[in-house]
Amino acid sequence: MPMNPERPTLTTRQGHPVSDNQSLRSVGERGPATLENYQFIEKITHFDRERIPERVVHARGTGAHGWFEPYGKIGNEPAARYTRAKVLTQTGMRTPVFLRFSTVIGARESPESKRDPRGFAIKFKTVDGNWDLVGNNLKVFFIRDAIKFPDMIHAFKPDPVTNREEPWRFYDFIANHPESLHMVTWVKSPWGIPANYRQMEGSGVNTYKLVNDQGVAHLVKFHFQPRQGVRNLTSQQAAEIQARDVGHATRDLYDAIERGDFPEWEMCVQVMSDDAHEELDFDPLDDTKRWPEDQFPLLPVGRLVLDRNPDNVFAETEQSAFGTGVLVDGIDFSDDKMLQGRTLSYSDTQRYRVGPNYLQLPINAPQEKARAHTNQQSGQMAYYVDPTGANKHVNYEPSMVAGLREAPKPAREYHQWVEGHLGRYQTTRTVDDYRQAGDRYRSFEPWERDDLVANLGADLRECPEPIRLRMVWHFWHCDEDYGRRVAEAAGVDLQQALQLPPLEGKPAPHQRRDGPTYTS
Ligand code: HEM
Repeated sequence: MPMNPERPTLTTRQGHPVSDNQSLRSVGERGPATLENYQFIEKITHFDRERIPERVVHARGTGAHGWFEPYGKIGNEPAARYTRAKVLTQTGMRTPVFLRFSTVIGARESPESKRDPRGFAIKFKTVDGNWDLVGNNLKVFFIRDAIKFPDMIHAFKPDPVTNREEPWRFYDFIANHPESLHMVTWVKSPWGIPANYRQMEGSGVNTYKLVNDQGVAHLVKFHFQPRQGVRNLTSQQAAEIQARDVGHATRDLYDAIERGDFPEWEMCVQVMSDDAHEELDFDPLDDTKRWPEDQFPLLPVGRLVLDRNPDNVFAETEQSAFGTGVLVDGIDFSDDKMLQGRTLSYSDTQRYRVGPNYLQLPINAPQEKARAHTNQQSGQMAYYVDPTGANKHVNYEPSMVAGLREAPKPAREYHQWVEGHLGRYQTTRTVDDYRQAGDRYRSFEPWERDDLVANLGADLRECPEPIRLRMVWHFWHCDEDYGRRVAEAAGVDLQQALQLPPLEGKPAPHQRRDGPTYTS
């Protein structure tokens, strides 16, 4: 702990020097305190308000500052062939970043050794304004339609009656959503407990678009490969860490950065042309699926390095606010239904969690070259008014006199042609709901498969029979060996499980449905 010879004088928030911080004012040594105890009342009432609501998900996290530097290429081609985003095309230009890692379900001080996907949220403070990529470590997700998110999180978070995370509620949800099987196969394997935040992958998960100068778009997924390698834990190893330390991953990251061992990731993208790709058994807009790397290779784009710990956890990590709507020119939305739903949710929750002016906080504000100039004003905790020029009367646009003007339009704008019936749709391409989960099972090393089966077996033994049977039925359709082994571990009669009919309202496994199904 460094000793600091410079010791500023303690003051109140009003700037008054405090000469006694040990005692409140009272009438006599043993008498009552008084209402005019301004210094005491200000101190206590501020303390009473020290907490803001924790994030509704991903409450437990830790963050660090660093930078991103593009190679100027995407694979072997100039990056500009795909995108006009300067953050990806300007070779060697360093963009400051803030990256927050997290677990999903646990509360703000919950153990970091929990089995859970890990959040990987990056804020790039680019010369064109902020770009946020809010992803996870597993490249896929449990669901593909944003309307299911509150149900999913309710099922995974503690039971409203027992206040415990109950396995039966988790599997009750999964049993009704076969698209989750792929993610569950990851999460219940050792990949569900990364050893720390440095030795894990990151991914934007959702599908975005890269748009180039000609206004041509490609579908894209962003991934981050750790130079430190990947290391995961078994349940047993995690339990041993948890008994000693509930914040081991925060400590690991903090200590590595303090000793100058800066963690680094290579950003890679997968790209495909911007169309429906009917030849694939999955929809490229379905975030429960990976794009097979033999068909869509990981193309290196640049380096991301973390080299500075926050000075203050609350001001920086806790108040940091990431969102999927925060994109720069050259990186665009796709019609991925999760991405679209998420984009509303993030800034909505942040206006509640941090306040309507959360973007004025230094951690969230864009860098100086992209300084905000808006006519948005006032609201709780407004800290400043955006500069609008010398004439401060004009806080509207357009004006013949003064004020802000629109930016020039790009030479070639990207326009998407859209038509269709308004309705509520399910994807017709469900074949890979089972196949990718089976591929994953088969790709694991034997010890990873053993750990996966043991974890699923232990969980399912705590579930009612209908859920156990249905889960075994699902796993068997992913891979017969997978189903057989989970049945044995969960004490389920495999033949009884296989008698079950397909899930009501869902296509049979491995069957691609013809034509869209929608209800209005
Ligand atoms: C955090 C909503 C899907 C990754 C959050 C927060 C909300 C939210 C409300 C809290 C944000 C805050 O308080 O600042 C949703 C919704 C989803 C969804 C509605 C689906 C419709 C996903 C997916 C991923 C993801 C698919 C991963 C690919 C994250 C991460 C954070 C987060 C990493 C923490 C960000 C941070 O560190 O501050 N999400 N989410 N979410 N979400 Fe999601």
